[in-house]
Amino acid sequence: MIKPDGVQRGLVSEIIGRFERRGYRLVAMKLVQPSKQLAEQHYDDLRERSFFPVLTDFLSSSPVVAMVWSGEDIVVQGRAMIGATNPLKSAPGTIRGDLAIVTGKNIIHGSDSVESAEKEIALWFNDDELCTYEKCTETWIY
Ligand code: TYD
Repeated sequence: MIKPDGVQRGLVSEIIGRFERRGYRLVAMKLVQPSKQLAEQHYDDLRERSFFPVLTDFLSSSPVVAMVWSGEDIVVQGRAMIGATNPLKSAPGTIRGDLAIVTGKNIIHGSDSVESAEKEIALWFNDDELCTYEKCTETWIY
């Protein structure tokens, strides 16, 4: 998910482009204005953390781009492409390492396991919003 700061800063195409160029397949995507309740559900496992109210206020402050990507090792590789939670500890070349400097505004969320990806997809998307298609690498090259 591209968080409100990523959308506001005009980084949507930059971020989507990185996943596309890496070779991952876009399965679903939409611009959503999350409610505070949806933001709280999304970060349910962080309810006890002191930053939870600020985090969920932030996530529901402006639209986000919710996406589903698929492909080989997408969860692990997606997290690697995103970088560490604190952008100042994210390696250059990662999304946060190249584009952010503040933990509370770190541009992008990525599921940390297949299990949490499944939960998050169910939270953000209806089944009929997920597209099943093959990537035709040969047909589209001329
Ligand atoms: P977390 O799930 O730990 O990190 P990640 O996004 O890398 O999976 O935390 C969720 C978000 O909460 C994180 O992206 C930014 C915010 N956050 C803070 O604002 N302060 C903090 O100290 C931490 C750990 C996270």
